[in-house]
Amino acid sequence: KNIVILISGGGSNMAAIVRSAQRGAWDAALGARVAAVISNRPDAGGLAFARENGIATAVVDHKEFPSREAFEDALRRAVDVHAPALVVLAGFMRILTPAFVEHYAGRLLNIHPSLLPAFPGLHTHQRAIEAGCRVAGATVHQVTAELDHGPILEQAVVPVMPDDTADTLAARVLTQEHRIYPRAIARLLREG
Ligand code: GRF
Repeated sequence: KNIVILISGGGSNMAAIVRSAQRGAWDAALGARVAAVISNRPDAGGLAFARENGIATAVVDHKEFPSREAFEDALRRAVDVHAPALVVLAGFMRILTPAFVEHYAGRLLNIHPSLLPAFPGLHTHQRAIEAGCRVAGATVHQVTAELDHGPILEQAVVPVMPDDTADTLAARVLTQEHRIYPRAIARLLREG
């Protein structure tokens, strides 16, 4: 069972998933493995981590395509080379068309840095602070055509401190993301 992880930047969630696989988060019997890390940005820091860990990488640079459809066709081809059982969006910052989502229906996951359905979209930590939230968190969910919606698989809650900035809250949430994403994937692989 191949897992393909899509990133756009540092890829700390991808790294956490790779580390959990290396520590045997899912038993070998499952035959699950991280087969590739693919980025839409050639300068994504996570690509170096993947290479250092012997994982195939690819770049499908969205700026090199005339349209969203052309980019997604190229991305799908790069992903489908691995015939993935699971496609994991981890800090992947491109909105995907319904056609792309449909192609991977039921095997496409994302992590969003808020307690969905609260705060879909961007700048989630700043918005939570401005709303006076006492708690914040992250959500692992199945990706559907509607942005940042879809069946919730895991969530984690963190406190919002009175002196929090978006950055201090983001760091606290990110630590939890690195815990719940590997757990959600391991559970999905075991339960099928
Ligand atoms: C994180 O806030 C994550 O919730 C969001 O992208 C940010 C960076 O993720 N999906 P990563 O470090 O690139 O995994």
